[in-house]
Order: sequence, then C-alpha cells, then structure tokens
Amino acid sequence: MIKLKFVLLGDMAVGKTSFMIQYNNKKFFNYLDSTIGAAFSTKVIKKNNKNIKLEFWDTAGQERYKSLVSMYYKNADAALVIYDINKIDTLNSAINLIDMLKKNGPINIKYILIGNKYDVMEKDSINIDTVNDKLNKSGNSDVKHIYTSAKIDYNIDYSIYTLLDLINLESKFDIKESKINQLDSYDNYRSCCY
Ligand code: GTP
Repeated sequence: MIKLKFVLLGDMAVGKTSFMIQYNNKKFFNYLDSTIGAAFSTKVIKKNNKNIKLEFWDTAGQERYKSLVSMYYKNADAALVIYDINKIDTLNSAINLIDMLKKNGPINIKYILIGNKYDVMEKDSINIDTVNDKLNKSGNSDVKHIYTSAKIDYNIDYSIYTLLDLINLESKFDIKESKINQLDSYDNYRSCCY
C-alpha cells in the first residue's frame, strides 16, 4: 500500500471542503460551516495495480488560520490549490500559494490549480485567458489548471487523477513490500545466528 498526503489550499469559501465531500462521498451541501484549523479524511484507490491510500488535509481558508498552512503542506506529496471562478482575489491568493509551495514546500511536491464553481460560470467569470495570463506573468506557465464544480461533480475525480499522474508512484514507499523485506532480513538474521 502506498500512502500519499494531499493537501487542499485556497481562500475561504472557494469550495475545498465541498470538493473533498464530493470526492469522498459523492454529496454536496449548499451550506457548510467554515473549516476550523483543518479536516482530515482518507480514501483507498487502485492505480496501476497498486493500492494507494490518499490522506487528505483540507485546510481552513480563513485569514486567522493562514499561519498554520505551512504545517499542513509539510511532507505533502501533492496540493490542490483552489480558487473561486467568480472571485479574482481568490485566484491571486492561489497563485501566491503556488509561489509559496515552490519556495518553501517539499522538494518534489506536485500541484494543480483548480477553478471551482464552474456550474456558475458567467460571461464575466474568470476565463482561461485570464488564468493563463496570470500564470505566465508569475512564472507558473507549467502549472496545470482545471475547472471543477463540487456542486455538480464536474472534473472532481479527474483532478485527483491528473495530480496522481504527476507523481512518480514507483519512488514512493510501499508499506507492505517494505514489511516483507524487513521480515526477510529478520529471517536471514535468525538463521544466521541461532
Ligand atoms: P473554508 O472552510 O472557509 O476554507 O471554505 P471552503 O473552501 O472549504 O468552502 P466550502 O466547501 O465550505 O464552500 C463554501 C460555499 O461554497 C458553500 O456554501 C458551498 O455550498 C459552496 N460551493 C462549494 N463548491 C461549490 C460549487 O462547485 N458550486 C457552487 N455553486 N457552490 C459551491
């Protein structure tokens, strides 16, 4: 079993918890209390014949919890950086978060940018040209961007799979295999000395 730590980052009310609930439980709530600190959930999936335990840390977007964010992306394998497609400030914050991950995050952390609430895409919502322009100007043109809707379950699974595709699973620690290796060496040790 491979264990991966995923962290959800982004401003308050962009839909981090809703994304998580839709991914884990296929449900959506029109009203949710703001997350306090962070919330933890797990899901086991299979990819390339490997069992993968995804550990999700859904962080709180409220300003007063901002100082805790670095605690949650520490040791993370990947980050979903989420903004609300009708709030430009949340896109600016998301890009700042990507810059922060690049500067202070784990060396091999992978991340994608997610524009949530696509079910309420309007003429004056944040379009892909604006996103690309901001990514280019901030030196992040390589960052993948996906529109999602936690409400209508649009691109939620796809986002997780896109992120998983960026991770080199072969390089990750396999708990079961490593236990077998340990047992093997223990047997060798016993047979050698008794
Ligand atoms: P914090 O916990 O404060 O950081 O917020 P959050 O980012 O976890 O947002 P949350 O999931 O609590 O959602 C905030 C509000 O947006 C709720 O009223 C949700 O119902 C709504 N919401 C979330 N995702 C969507 C979406 O895809 N479409 C629409 N229309 N509303 C959404």
